[in-house]
Amino acid sequence: AKTTVSVIKADVGSFPGHSRTHPKLLEKAAQMLKEVEGTIITDSFVTHCGDDLELIITHTKGEDNAEIHELAWNIFMECAKMAKEMKLYGAGQDLLGDAFSGNVKGMGPGVAEMEFEERGSDPLLVFMADKTEPGAWNFFLYKMFADPFNTSGLVIDPSMHDGFTFEVHDLIEKRKIHFHTPEDIYSLLAYIGAPSRYVIKYVWKKNGEIAASTSTQRLNMMAGRYVGKDDPVMVVRAQSGFPSVGEVIDPFRTPILVAGWMRGSHHGPFMPVGVCDANCTQFDGPPRVICLGFQVSDGKLIGPADMFDDPAFDLVRNKCCEISEIMRNHGPFEPHRLSLDEMEYTTLPGVEEQLKDRWGPLPE
Ligand code: 13P
Ligand code: 13P
Ligand code: MG
Ligand code: MG
Ligand code: MG
Ligand code: MG
Repeated sequence: AKTTVSVIKADVGSFPGHSRTHPKLLEKAAQMLKEVEGTIITDSFVTHCGDDLELIITHTKGEDNAEIHELAWNIFMECAKMAKEMKLYGAGQDLLGDAFSGNVKGMGPGVAEMEFEERGSDPLLVFMADKTEPGAWNFFLYKMFADPFNTSGLVIDPSMHDGFTFEVHDLIEKRKIHFHTPEDIYSLLAYIGAPSRYVIKYVWKKNGEIAASTSTQRLNMMAGRYVGKDDPVMVVRAQSGFPSVGEVIDPFRTPILVAGWMRGSHHGPFMPVGVCDANCTQFDGPPRVICLGFQVSDGKLIGPADMFDDPAFDLVRNKCCEISEIMRNHGPFEPHRLSLDEMEYTTLPGVEEQLKDRWGPLPE
């Protein structure tokens, strides 16, 4: 049977403020998954990035499976109940729907799933971020799968020479397109360079084998009001026709700016950290990413390895601290604060509403 990996996440409450998930919630989620191991699911691992509770689940039911989504939804509801009892901050934050209707998509949680025939050996990397948005993966996926200066395998490995296919979603117009690399790289970049709107959803080998899958939910679009950023997750397969593990994680040595951070309203550096540092502190951030590595063996998750818990990533972390200093010094000014069209989806329109009677026309 094919193996499905489902990474499903939600912020169901945190402490203090938006900084981290409470260990009691992690325990509860892990225990609820353990109870169905061997029946509904094959294996699982629970962790957190900042205030986001992350469920990594393997099973044989394919993507968008109602039983798996309902399991995740019930876990989030149960954990949100505990969060309410403890009066954690933002208890139930990402659970927008009232009743489960077969799929957690559109209900608040973020989902990245892929189904594949296991190879002789299947290295899998799960990326989880806090205080940013799904388009944050665009730069890194491009580097992994389309940039030969990152991935030398594209040049020296005949099994990668053909390139890859990228599925890009337009989150505003709700449409999708496929780009084939290397031939379409300029067109691909024309879109994914605007990550608040265009998001890479999948990457495949040109023979159709799945290589990467991301979450693309945009919370503010679902709720119609500011409810926090849709902190994203991503699953990437490595080796044997895909980029090597090292080629998959090396893009994160580049400190780029992403949208999110404080109140989901600021640009800040995207910092790769070990799980022990996956807590958002400085100005509720800076935006962070963790990566857990596994070998998938008959659906079992062998691992995890904490990929960014490594002094090799100290330099990018230091650079991120320097960038953070530069950005923070802007205070409430752009480009630290997001541009006006992005601020439309936050609490800023409420300020305009309060001041509307004090605005008058300019003289001719
Ligand atoms: P080893 O020689 O350590 O197995 O490494 C092989 C490799 O391809 C690393 O990217
Ligand atoms: P989260 O999206 O991680 O809940 O963060 C919201 C926020 O306002 C942080 O300042
Ligand atoms: Mg939160
Ligand atoms: Mg296990
Ligand atoms: Mg979060
Ligand atoms: Mg959030």
